Amino acid sequence: MRGRPPPPGTGCPAPGAAGYGPRVPEETLAAAVAAHPGWYHTIELPEGVTTPGFCDLRPFAGTALPASFGGKRVLDVGTFDGFWAFEAEKRGAATVFALDLEKGTDADWPPNTAAENLAASEAQGLEWGSGFALAHRALGSGVQRVEGNVYDLTPDWLGGRVDTIVCSTVLQHLRDPIGALERIRETLLPGGELLLLDTYSVAMTRLHPRRPIADFRPAMPGSKFTWWVPNLAALRGWATTAGFRGPGEELTRHKPLRGAGAGDHLVSLRFLAP
Ligand SMILES: C[S@@+](CC[C@H](N)C(=O)[O-])C[C@H]1O[C@@H](n2cnc3c(N)ncnc32)[C@H](O)[C@@H]1O
Repeated sequence: MRGRPPPPGTGCPAPGAAGYGPRVPEETLAAAVAAHPGWYHTIELPEGVTTPGFCDLRPFAGTALPASFGGKRVLDVGTFDGFWAFEAEKRGAATVFALDLEKGTDADWPPNTAAENLAASEAQGLEWGSGFALAHRALGSGVQRVEGNVYDLTPDWLGGRVDTIVCSTVLQHLRDPIGALERIRETLLPGGELLLLDTYSVAMTRLHPRRPIADFRPAMPGSKFTWWVPNLAALRGWATTAGFRGPGEELTRHKPLRGAGAGDHLVSLRFLAP
């Protein structure tokens, strides 16, 4: 399903402004974090509080991103609890936008698992963006949240094009990853950089180092949210097909994330927009 473009002004308010409320008092932060129904990211907050997200990207972050985003306008696509957006802010970005769907149920679920995914989502009762909002307040962050679907992304949503876009483990959940990459390319300034962090199949990369191939996961038992897991040649091919300059600099590789398919590892690739 594709969401609607966000109305103007859906950005996250500045710390302390109406919308996300005042910064979380320290004595209640641990309790608020513990009460949240579904952390995705492990994020270090003040006062020694760490969110218990099952996705701990901290060991990958050191090499997956450049050390500095000094003065740049950065967009994080598919931010979830905001780990990469807050990392960009820590690394000196002048402005950071964090894009995500308004509701988790707007995701591009494969039709054969959509009913099951909807039931699980309703049972969990997670309000989309609530983990981001809590972490944002705790950090006193200035990251601006934008709600909408990457398929509809335009520079207008961000008040103009940006220098850098981080897109991490989103493409594998899209029916049309190349359509999303086109929107991303058109949202970058000429020469702007895409940091494409995604899973790839180690086995298919070994077997086919040059031939671009992707695993079609909806037809595989047990796969619920994933459309495509490419080998490295296909992941690079998606970006160049969408108009990025190839072949894409490899910044780092990483072991599988918890919950990832067997043999799916992470890679960080850097592409430039023409
Ligand atoms: C697997 S999580 C990845 C979160 C984070 N980027 C990371 O690397 O850990 C996928 C995220 O992408 C978001 N997402 C999925 N489809 C999207 C779409 N079409 N447009 C915008 N965001 C989307 C989901 O809501 C979710 O927050």
